[in-house]
Amino acid sequence: MSKNYNIAVIPGDGTGPEVVRESKKVLKAAASKFGFKLNFEDFDFGGERYLRTGEILPDSAPEQLKKFDSILLGAIGHPDVKPGILEKGILLKLRFELDQYINLRPVKLYPGVSSPLKDKGPEHIDYVVVRENTGDVYTGSGGVTMKGTPGEVAIQNMVYTRMQVDRCLKYAFEYTRKRNRKNTLALCGKTNVLTYVFDLWERAFHEIGKALYPEIKREYYHVDATCMWMVKNPEWFDVIVTSNMFGDIITDLGAITQGGMGIAAGGNINPEGVSMFEPIGGSAPKYTGKNIINPLAAISCGSMMLEHLGEDKAARAVEEAIMDVTANKIKDLGAGKMGYSTSEVGDLVAERI
Ligand code: IPM
Ligand code: MN
Repeated sequence: MSKNYNIAVIPGDGTGPEVVRESKKVLKAAASKFGFKLNFEDFDFGGERYLRTGEILPDSAPEQLKKFDSILLGAIGHPDVKPGILEKGILLKLRFELDQYINLRPVKLYPGVSSPLKDKGPEHIDYVVVRENTGDVYTGSGGVTMKGTPGEVAIQNMVYTRMQVDRCLKYAFEYTRKRNRKNTLALCGKTNVLTYVFDLWERAFHEIGKALYPEIKREYYHVDATCMWMVKNPEWFDVIVTSNMFGDIITDLGAITQGGMGIAAGGNINPEGVSMFEPIGGSAPKYTGKNIINPLAAISCGSMMLEHLGEDKAARAVEEAIMDVTANKIKDLGAGKMGYSTSEVGDLVAERI
């Protein structure tokens, strides 16, 4: 019997619906080629809904979404909504409520894509960042007192529990083992200043690595140095594991080295629950509705989702189709510069599957 997957789709704001449409197109082509079924169900969470109803996210949403095999998300962020409301109320809320404790962000330069890094090609830029996705300054721990006075005190705590660190590290070691390339896991931290939090990370890193993954080589880099080496010697990296905030920052740097927001994909993973795949780029309001935005990041998310569902062959086929399109078809990854419309790029990828 062929497998059936139920996929919740959150097209979201701006160009989100346009890129998600192309991702679905490619996923459908992959499903029919590889003999499984995808049932998509759309959810209208995002800025438009909030402006219309005043509700950011229905309380029932997390429970509803838990029933799906996976979630595909376009973009969250609306120009008429104050920054932070939708990001915190939808994106971060879902990551937390669904306990998606890993944010998996591959940094891979596809053939034909030009990197701003001089003399670096696809053979140099191919690694994965495992970003912890539930702790750190994202927990909301802290507060403000004497607001508006010269003595105002603002505190935002960097919070990590041993449990959060352990489960993230275990995932990263497992991922490195499964990837089986350089078998090297690099911890990115700041042990020279954040002597409580990254001491915890570093001890756990070596304890777990030594006991359970002795064949995986362990490296450590401070976050500032990581940025430097991601530019100078990206070929050093295989898998990088890091905290939530550092992961947020270094993956934007990683994304630009692989060609930018048009191509960078990511997955919010709960290895024991439901995961949510989202392009790293935002809602790009100025390109909305023009059919010129690059859908490859969203299509790439589809490939990541297939891999996560266990449809490895289909996942690989989608990625290879993307690489064929970047190598032989589109001129530039930028919106309006591809030489094709959003839907034509979707067609090009789907056709190759
Ligand atoms: C990301 C984004 C989010 C984050 C924002 C929108 C809350 O920057 O997914 O990287 O900080 O995680
Ligand atoms: Mn970010």
